Amino acid sequence: MKEKKKGFWREGVRVTRENDPAARTSLEIILTYPGLKALAAHRLSHWLWKHDAKLLARMNSQLWRFLTQIEIHPGAEIANGVFIDHGSGLVIGETAIVETGVKLYHGVTLGGTGKDSGKRHPTVRKGALISAHAQLLGPIEIGENAKVGASAVVVTDVPNDVTVVGIPAKVVRVNGKKDESIINSLEEMREASYHSSHL
Ligand SMILES: CC(C)(COP(=O)(O)OP(=O)(O)OC[C@H]1O[C@@H](n2cnc3c(N)ncnc32)[C@H](O)[C@@H]1OP(=O)(O)O)[C@@H](O)C(=O)NCCC(=O)NCCS
Repeated sequence: MKEKKKGFWREGVRVTRENDPAARTSLEIILTYPGLKALAAHRLSHWLWKHDAKLLARMNSQLWRFLTQIEIHPGAEIANGVFIDHGSGLVIGETAIVETGVKLYHGVTLGGTGKDSGKRHPTVRKGALISAHAQLLGPIEIGENAKVGASAVVVTDVPNDVTVVGIPAKVVRVNGKKDESIINSLEEMREASYHSSHL
C-alpha cells in the first residue's frame, strides 16, 4: 500500500517533539523554533526558484536568513520531516539535497569546495545526523542513518549507518560498533574514492 504523504507542518511538529525533549506544545513549536520557520520559508523560496522568480526567491531566502540566522539557498531540495535544532549559522547550498528524517544542528555547512560545477553541494540521505559545526564540502553523499560528529570536516562520501568524526572525518563506528577491520576497509575505500575523484 502506498504510504500517505504527511504535510509539512505536521511532520515538522512531529520531528521536533521526537528530537527535542524541551518541546512542549505544537503552538510553541510553530511559534518559537527558528528551524521550522526557515524550512517553511524555504518552501516558498524553492517554489519561486522553480517558477523562474529567482530574484524574489533570493530576497525571501535572505529575509529569513536575517530573521533566523539560517541561510538556505532557494535551489536546495529539502524533504518534509527534516529537523533543524537551534540553527544559527547553518548554511545550505544551492544544489544540496536533504532527505526526510535528517537532523541538522547550528553551524553546519552543506557547502561547495569551490572546485566543482553543476552538482557541487552534499546529498544527505534519510535519517542522517549532522552535528553542530560539521562542515560537509563538495558533491559528497552522506548515507542513511550516518552520524557526523560535531566540528567534523567531511570531504568524502560517508556510507550508511557509520559514524565519522574529526578533520578530515574518518569512520569510527559501524552500526554503533568499533570493529577495526570493517572500519579500516571502509576507510581504504573512502580514500580510494577521494583520490579517484580528485585526479
Ligand atoms: C558523533 C556523535 C553523534 C556520537 O556518535 P556515536 O556513533 O554514538 O559515537 P561515540 O560517541 O561512540 O564515539 C565514537 C568515537 O568518536 C569520538 N568522538 C565522538 N564525537 C566526536 C567529535 N565530535 N569529535 C571527535 N571525536 C569524537 C569518541 O570519543 C569515540 O572515540 P573512541 O573510538 O576513541 O572511543 C556525537 O559524539 C556528537 O558529535 N554529537 C554532537 C551532537 C550535537 O551536535 N549536539 C548539539 C546539541 S545543541
